[in-house]
Amino acid sequence: MSRLIDIKRLKAPVITDPRGNLSFLESHRHIPFEFKRIYYLYDVPGGAQRGGHAHLNLRQFIIAISGSFDIVLDDGFERKRVHLNRSHTGLLLPNMIWRELDNFSSGSVCMVLASEYYEEHDYIRDYRQFVNLARNTNPQQDTQIA
Ligand code: TYD
Repeated sequence: MSRLIDIKRLKAPVITDPRGNLSFLESHRHIPFEFKRIYYLYDVPGGAQRGGHAHLNLRQFIIAISGSFDIVLDDGFERKRVHLNRSHTGLLLPNMIWRELDNFSSGSVCMVLASEYYEEHDYIRDYRQFVNLARNTNPQQDTQIA
């Protein structure tokens, strides 16, 4: 199972150019998995929250391609809030991390590279169920969630 320390911040290469910068991400070279799916959130109204789930197996790379948003990360023992606001730097999330996205700036775009095709059975959408699962598979830990 996964802990917050397993979440990595990853910076894409940046080709700077007076005409505008260019970044790129390649499977296995930058992202340590083959991404089978890309999805993106856009036109998010002010005050909206997305996410609110964990994944049993799916791994993801999440990046603020444009604008900014916050991502609340929770491994069943502790949680932290991370602000993403760079087009070249995102977060690599292992499976079994609960996430909530909010505080979207106007015009922001959240892009996600996913290791698997969309599969509803991979979602855990109930927070208590997630915590029970995360704690039962990390029995040596007994940290309280803030
Ligand atoms: P969901 O993953 O719950 O959105 P978020 O976590 O960003 O708030 O997905 C919302 C809806 O979109 C849900 O009905 C499933 C559907 N969906 C797809 O059909 N394919 C996809 O790749 C994703 C991510 C979602």
